[in-house]
This record gives sequence, C-alpha cells and structure tokens, in this order.
Amino acid sequence: YFYGDSPPVYPSPNGTGNGDWAASYQKAAALVAQMTLDEKNNLTFGIETSGTGCVGAIGAISRLGFPGMCLQDAGNGVREADFVNSYPSGLHVGASWNKSLAHDRGWYMAGEFRTKGVNIALGPVVAPMGRLTTNGRNWEGVASDPYLSGVLAARTVDGMQGQGVISSVKHFIGYEQELYRNPTVNSDNQTVESISSNIDDKTMHEAYLWPFQDALKAGAGNIMCSYNRINNSHACQNSKTLNGLLKTELGFEGFVVTDWVGQHSGVSSALAGLDMAMPTGETYWGTYLKEAVNNGSVPLSRLDDMATRIIATWYQMGQDSPNYPALGVGMPYNISEPHKIVNALTPEAKPVLFEGAVEGHVLVKNVNNALPLKKPQLLSVFGWDAVAPVSYIPNNILASDPWEEGYEPALFELDGDVIINEPYDYQVAFNGTLSVGGGSGANAGPYVSAPLDALQQRAYEDNTVIMWDTGKNPNKLGVMEASDACLVFINAFASEGLDRSGTYDSYSDTLVAKVAETCPNTVVVVHNAGTRLVESFAENPNVTAIVFGHLPGQDSGRAITALLYGDENFSGKLPYTVAKNETDYPAYWHSYAVSPFSLFPQSNFTEGVLLDYKWFDAKNITPRYEFGFGLSYSNFSFSNLHVSSVQDGIATYPSGVIEQGGQVDLWDTLVKVTATVQNSGSKSGSEVAQLYLGIPGGPVRQLRGFDKVRIPAGRSAQVSFSLTRRDLSTWDVTAQKWKLQSGNYKVYVGSSSRNLPLKTTLKITT
Ligand code: NOJ
Repeated sequence: YFYGDSPPVYPSPNGTGNGDWAASYQKAAALVAQMTLDEKNNLTFGIETSGTGCVGAIGAISRLGFPGMCLQDAGNGVREADFVNSYPSGLHVGASWNKSLAHDRGWYMAGEFRTKGVNIALGPVVAPMGRLTTNGRNWEGVASDPYLSGVLAARTVDGMQGQGVISSVKHFIGYEQELYRNPTVNSDNQTVESISSNIDDKTMHEAYLWPFQDALKAGAGNIMCSYNRINNSHACQNSKTLNGLLKTELGFEGFVVTDWVGQHSGVSSALAGLDMAMPTGETYWGTYLKEAVNNGSVPLSRLDDMATRIIATWYQMGQDSPNYPALGVGMPYNISEPHKIVNALTPEAKPVLFEGAVEGHVLVKNVNNALPLKKPQLLSVFGWDAVAPVSYIPNNILASDPWEEGYEPALFELDGDVIINEPYDYQVAFNGTLSVGGGSGANAGPYVSAPLDALQQRAYEDNTVIMWDTGKNPNKLGVMEASDACLVFINAFASEGLDRSGTYDSYSDTLVAKVAETCPNTVVVVHNAGTRLVESFAENPNVTAIVFGHLPGQDSGRAITALLYGDENFSGKLPYTVAKNETDYPAYWHSYAVSPFSLFPQSNFTEGVLLDYKWFDAKNITPRYEFGFGLSYSNFSFSNLHVSSVQDGIATYPSGVIEQGGQVDLWDTLVKVTATVQNSGSKSGSEVAQLYLGIPGGPVRQLRGFDKVRIPAGRSAQVSFSLTRRDLSTWDVTAQKWKLQSGNYKVYVGSSSRNLPLKTTLKITT
C-alpha cells in the first residue's frame, strides 16, 4: 500500500435532491433564494447559545420563519439534561443483536431530544469501530464489525429520524484512537498534528465506510467529521472523504458538521465539502467565510450549497412544522441553577429501556447449574460496582475516586488536548455501578437501578438472606463459606479523551480470586465499557458463571437480577472477540508520535479488512470467547439450510443511479437464505442465528446476516437472511465499484462466528 496519500477531489458536489429528498430540496431552494449573503453565511457556523445549554446552535432567520437549530449530545440519551432517560450504550445495543430494539431505542431517545428542543442529536457512533482494542470510546460504538454496526446503526437512525430529529452519524472517518485525536503542543513548543489514520481504499470501503453507508441509506441527515486525519489530510477538510466518498459515491444530500473545534482551515474546508463549523465561526469561518466568498476564494455556489443542504435537511425531517418545540426549550443553560422543568420522560419508553438493558448482557460461562439462581438461602454480593453511584447528576457523570484519600479526579479536556500520563489508572470506575462510560456520550437518567438494590428487593420477596461486602480492599473481604452463591461485580471503565490502559486490571482480578478462594459458586458480572479479558479467572473451577454486562443504562440492576434468577433469558452475543492474550489482537495499543514523524503521528491500518474475528480466523488464533458467542438457558439446534440460486451471467458491477446510500442496485436482494432453529431446552428463549460468508478472495468468514428469533421451549422457528449485491461483493479498487465475484461462495449459518453447524456452497457466475 502507499499510505499517506489522500487524492484531491474537487469541486464539491452540490446536493441535488435525488430520490425522496426531491420535495425538501425544492422547498430549500425557494427559501435559500430569498436569503441575503449574511443570512446564508450565518447558517454555517455556531453562535453563543446563551439562554440554552445546547452544545451547539445556529441562529434564526426570523424574517423567513427559520428558528435556528440546536445540536446536542449524544448517542445514549440527552446529555446534561434532567427528566430524560439514560439508555443502554451503543456497545450494549451491539451485544443485543436486536434490530427492532435498536429502532425502538432510537425512537424513544429521539422523542426526548425533540421534547427538549433539540434539532440535531449527535449520534449514533459507528467510528470508532473497535479497531483498537483499548480505544476509550468503543463503548459508544456498536461492534467491532462493520456489518453488525451498520445494520444496528441504520435501525437507530430510522427510529430517531422517525421523530423528526436529525441524526448526526459520527465520527467520519477512521477515528480509531483517542491519543493525538487533536493537535497538541509538545515540550519544544511545536505543534504535533492529530493522528493520521492511514487506510487503503479497499479497507476504507469494506470496513470503515460500510456502516456509514448503511446509515446514509436509512436517510441520515447529518454526518460529523472527525478529529483525526485520514491519509494525512484532516477529516473536516479532506476532499477525498467528503467530496469524494460521501457526497459523490454515496450521494449524501444532508450536511457535514465538524466535531467541536475540529476545523483547521477556512477556504480549504469549504472547498473540501464541509458545511457547518462548530461550536463557533470565530477561527476560520464566520466573517472570514463571507470574505472568501466576496473575494472569490470560495464560489458563491458552494455557500449556496451549504445553506441548501442545511435547510433541505430541516425540511426533510419536518422541522418546519409549527409543532416542533422551540430551540433548546428544555436545555437549561446551567442545570444546577433553577430552571423551567421540561419533562421528556414517557411511560412507553420503559419496556424498551428494560428490554434493551436485558438483551445486551452476554453469558459466556455457566457450569454446575450455577445460573439461574434458585431461591438461594444465603446470597453474598461483592464489589463496589454493585452499589449505586456516589454521585449521579447530569453534569458530572465521571468515575470519581474515593480510592486514594484526597484525590481529585481530573476532568477530561474533551475538546482540547488528549490527556496522557494521567497519574491515575482509569481502568476502574470507583464511583459505583458503571452504567455508562465517560465523556460526551454520558448522561444521567431519572434514577439508576444498582445491582445490590435490585438483589435486595428480590431477597425480600424470596426470603433469602443477603450479605454484602462492597469495601475496596480485596484482602479484607468477609466471604461466608456457607453462601449458596457469591456474586462479584467488577467493571472496566473507559472515556472519551483517553484510551484505556489495558483490558483487565489486577485490582478487579484480585477481588474475583479472593472471593473464589472461599466460595465454590462464584458468579462474575463485569460492567465493561469495551473488551475485557478474563484469563485470570475464566478457568477457575470456583468461578461457575461469567456475564459481560456492558453498559446497560439506568435499568442495570433490575435487568441483571431478572437474568440471574431466570425471569429473563440471556440472549446477547459478543459484538467483539475476547482473546486469551492482548497480543492476539491486530491492534491493541494506540500509535505514538515516533521519529521521523514525531510532529505528524501516523497510524497504519496494516491489518486491512481483517478486523477482530477476521484476524483471528486468518491467523488461526483460538480466542477465549469468539465474536458472536453467548449462552442461553435454552439449547438451540440448527437445520434445513436453504440458499436460493443466482441466475448465470448476472452483471459483475452495479449499474444503478446514485441516491443517498450509493448506487441503488447495490441494495437489491440477490440471494435468500433460510434455516430452521429449534429450541430443545425447557425454557423459552431467543437465539441470534448468524450468517457468515466466505467470499472468494476475501476473509475466511464475514458476517452478512443475523436474525434474532424468540422460540418457546420445544418449538422451532424459521430464520431468514437477505443477501444484497453489496453483501456479496468486494470493493474493486481499479473499477472503483463493488464487484460480484465469479466463483464458489461459502455460506455458514449458526450461533457464533465459530459454531456454524450449517454449511453449503453458493456458485455465482457473472
Ligand atoms: C467531541 C466529541 O468527539 C463528539 O462526539 C461530541 O459530539 C462533541 N464533542 C460535542 O460535545
């Protein structure tokens, strides 16, 4: 590969209103035609939002009836607001593999953004996509797989925009580490540029662009460009990714907004396809953009296009309706001070919050009939992660640390420099139970159900004696040998602004070991904001069950209690691989600034498309728990694989017109696959049937379909998968098109990426 070369793509294509954007573009063109140069210009940059707490806002054009727009974080619920819910995080949605839940979560969450007067909700996250195992923001994203990320993000966008809220799909593109995400100044007072994600064209399409493409196909109205550089050109002024990939190849009709303070030039970013600068226009746009238009450095048509894209998206979501709440009406400027209450909570969201919390838990070990618990006489609970957080307030959701006397947790510098060499290891959140990660994706709900509180309630109902020790010294635990079961709650913290210092910590591992020394029935629940290795206890015979609990949001305790007692069945599957060794991953640690590029840090994505399980398959590495794996209280078996055939001589390349999402015939279903799944257990439960393809010339296997079905005990159900032209193609770097392969495709169906009992071959002749 030749890295570091981002080819120029100019001029910036105008939005044209193809497909179902036509009416919105007509209305937008009519409105923009009435605007003065200043009015158009004012749409393109953020203004001081005094009066509201919106993280970004553009001003009104009152004489034309345009009320302005409020932009607010994030992907798991409304940030820095009260009377809103805290939903399961992106990674939790990934672990649920549940398409309709993803949709419904998006719908209810966006309903709250709307009630609060937010026009643009800054989520979902599909980048980072887990390339780097230790990335601090993997929990905001969905999965370490483009297909799973894409399907669930598209459903989320669909749900969100159904409420008329514009979804900002972020961060475009190749944003895969926190270290050097922004330019910094080194000790010699030199600027160190942000990290360059060096990605070849094939990997770009098959891995990183893939989930964005799905979100665009679902109608996403906004894309946030990222902090990093791509092939040495800043994401918010990269003509190849913005003008080329996004606006030409994928026919994007909406507008591109910068990540906050992610703009690094005025004229260049305008020409490269940027449409809106946040949070202000003070540095590069504002009066400077107007000047650039006046002196001809930026053509007026480019400014017209920015304005048209912004206004067309506003019409596209129906935000011109008089029913749309006033800008930032429920977003107090300072939430700590008295303010008008705007209650965005609805009873209808409750089952979605609870089911969402339940389904993102993944059971990976369950021996000796440890689970479900059967009305224990004596239950013991351990770990600070079992108890309610010490502080749970909307404007400070961080892991506070009572571990060291007098320690003041540093606030992360979110939009500025990355904090490195923190004096403290942020692996563990000592604040109490971890239900959401840190940074702009964090929010607080109306309550948080802590595991110990929910377990106590259950103990009351069952006449169980419950004892606990959630003290912090693992060497001084009161473990009762007579316990029927010992539950240990540990966590793995992660936050925006900081990559993780590893994927396991000796403190938590010691806690598990100490409990398991005495208690032969030790059940470990991990609240993990990313991948968490479990080698120190996975094979401990006294550790009888292990659950990855991810970040369930406010219904955490209630959900894990229902699962542990079998009122609910486990149905989650890992959206990433849990390795035995950290060295097994293709990219475990972030890249540093090293000579000769110490001022221009480089990250070469040399593993190409072989992310996560594709790497383990290619290198023949046995993981601890493979991608797609997860146990249930039921047993499922697979049979009756049927694959429809493709007519001979089918066209190698798509030929359709481009609408948002790319050439329309990329989405044609070419192959239908069905299979039967039987629940031979004694409990009703859900199975996620997974389809993997071995595309000729491609990775051993790639996920290309999944179908989650609820099956009563003793019954069976049919699962079905539709394979589109894109699903069956690989990116042809020469033709610059998706190419169907002529040859034998391997088709696998089963319950994980390594348990695939059904196999067949599909022959395609182009
Ligand atoms: C920076 C984060 O990267 C982004 O995700 C967030 O939406 C903005 N800040 C605004 O808070």
